Amino acid sequence: MMARSKTSNAWLKEHVNDSYVQMAQKDGYRARAAYKLLEINDKDKLIRPGTVLADLGSAPGSWSQVAARIVGDSGKVFALDILPMDPIADVAFIQGDFREQEVLEEFVALLGGRELDLVISDMAPNISGMSSIDQARSFHLTELALEFARDHLKPGGSFLVKVFQGSEFQDYMKAMRELFTEVVTRKPKASRDRSSEIYLLGKGRR
Ligand SMILES: C[S@@+](CC[C@H](N)C(=O)[O-])C[C@H]1O[C@@H](n2cnc3c(N)ncnc32)[C@H](O)[C@@H]1O
Repeated sequence: MMARSKTSNAWLKEHVNDSYVQMAQKDGYRARAAYKLLEINDKDKLIRPGTVLADLGSAPGSWSQVAARIVGDSGKVFALDILPMDPIADVAFIQGDFREQEVLEEFVALLGGRELDLVISDMAPNISGMSSIDQARSFHLTELALEFARDHLKPGGSFLVKVFQGSEFQDYMKAMRELFTEVVTRKPKASRDRSSEIYLLGKGRR
């Protein structure tokens, strides 16, 4: 018990002192994760006015907030999470487990036949450590996200996905390179250094 409360105190201290948390409060974003997408977007110009995109694992909603602010009236944001998400203007949201066929079908119906310019996936299972089970669950979500990108991206479209470096990483890179003309890795500053998360960006869906 002692160790656990020490750990959570440390977490709380780091969280409160974290400048990204403070910025998020000031800028009206629901999570510090907003700055990961903003930094990647500054560099790679994925989201522009008119972009039609899907945000997988969207709750609490900071990536959808960032995207909705940029795409404007001519674009569209479709979002999905297993958890509820408070509404965001101009974001169409479905709550459900992305691993379930019915949920996928409901989300695809929401797209109404539109092909996407961009798929962003920040999905990650609820984990405490990085056990092999956690890794397998996480990898399964990234695989499903890639499958979704393959099925719904326009030729030329892009795919940004959070992955945890593990044994399957190289195979995943290979699958990404088969689908996209260019694949790069991104580790934005707002991604805590000790985290093994990294973002892969596929550009130019073949
Ligand atoms: C790091 S958070 C996303 C934060 C989000 N990008 C933001 O900026 O607010 C990861 C999300 O993945 C979601 N998730 C995990 N497993 C999922 C699943 N099977 N289906 C859908 N969403 C899932 C979690 O509920 C969680 O909200």
